[in-house]
Amino acid sequence: MRIGLIGTGRIGAFHAEVLSRHPAVDGLLVADADPERAAATAARTGAAAVTVGGMFTGADAGVPDAVVICSATASHAGLIARAARAGLPAFCEKPIALDLPGTLGALAEVEAAGSVLQLGFMRRFDAGYAAARAAVREGRLGRLHTVRAVTSDPAPPPAAYLPLSGGLYRDCLVHDFDILRWVTGREVREVYATGSDAGPGMFRAAGDVDTAAALLTLDDGTLATATATRCNGAGYDVRMELAGELDQIAVGLDDRTPVTSAEPLGPGAPVKPWPGFLERFAPAYEAELDAYLRVVRGELANPCDGREALSALRIAEACEVSRRERRPVAMAEIPGG
Ligand SMILES: NC(=O)c1ccc[n+]([C@@H]2O[C@H](COP(=O)([O-])OP(=O)(O)OC[C@H]3O[C@@H](n4cnc5c(N)ncnc54)[C@H](O)[C@@H]3O)[C@@H](O)[C@H]2O)c1
Repeated sequence: MRIGLIGTGRIGAFHAEVLSRHPAVDGLLVADADPERAAATAARTGAAAVTVGGMFTGADAGVPDAVVICSATASHAGLIARAARAGLPAFCEKPIALDLPGTLGALAEVEAAGSVLQLGFMRRFDAGYAAARAAVREGRLGRLHTVRAVTSDPAPPPAAYLPLSGGLYRDCLVHDFDILRWVTGREVREVYATGSDAGPGMFRAAGDVDTAAALLTLDDGTLATATATRCNGAGYDVRMELAGELDQIAVGLDDRTPVTSAEPLGPGAPVKPWPGFLERFAPAYEAELDAYLRVVRGELANPCDGREALSALRIAEACEVSRRERRPVAMAEIPGG
């Protein structure tokens, strides 16, 4: 199979290496708005560097069998639409777009073309989240009453990234919203969210927050909290605790979790705390691309289609409304449902 990868930044370069090693991939084309970046990734992976346009017209090295979109968020919806019109299956990094109209427009293109779109919510391929899903679905926790989701980045992104990110709920907590639905099998009914910009001044300047918390009520009455921060000096911390009437379990709790027990007899500080998402989720990123290649070959149903991404984005939208208006927001208020 020949795969075309668009966008060779942080995540794109990583995905290109994974694809270049995959036995089902016998040709890899890479493109980036910055040709030097594409050339550097091509040199590292043995791929052919092409132009973004050439990926769809075949002008440079033919048209690939499927595309993987890892470019900056603002370009996703347009590239998804181009792939759909060219009849190419597409994998796209989250999000489809930063707003609902952009997301719905791209989904309309995909649905009109009847093409494949898989979204990059890689936590669905993490062993811990998969085990938690099985525990909930098999009733091992009993009636689930509480879920606590945590996403903490070790350090803020560059200031220039913030205005393009869509804010902490859409950029970061959207992963927690997706995985909350996936693990519990429930929908969110209402959110109540707040945020703090008490940290570095660049967050205030961008109208964003550096730390956020959301209280989510699920449609069966389960209560969930989701918190995120860009300022977790201890390391990259992604966890989910699920508590039921029979048992409770934790995802992301191991000897690399960047948290230190304050108890005299508790475990000491982690020796090698997770530094970032590429290290923590490397096996999940590999598994999601392996799944995508199987989807393209018709061997697997799409594990995360565009409608799933829309559902997660709507929850992030509800949180933004709640934070701004300082009130609980029912999901029914958010368009696109
Ligand atoms: N699933 C995850 O865990 C995860 C992690 C990181 C990033 N992401 C997503 O991946 C995307 C890329 O993030 P990143 O951190 O790699 O960013 P980055 O800034 O490191 O790289 C983006 C690349 O896209 C290129 N680019 C921009 N516009 C383009 C266009 N129109 N056509 C072709 N190339 C273009 C840039 O030149 C750059 O090389 C973002 O949408 C981000 O939300 C997802």
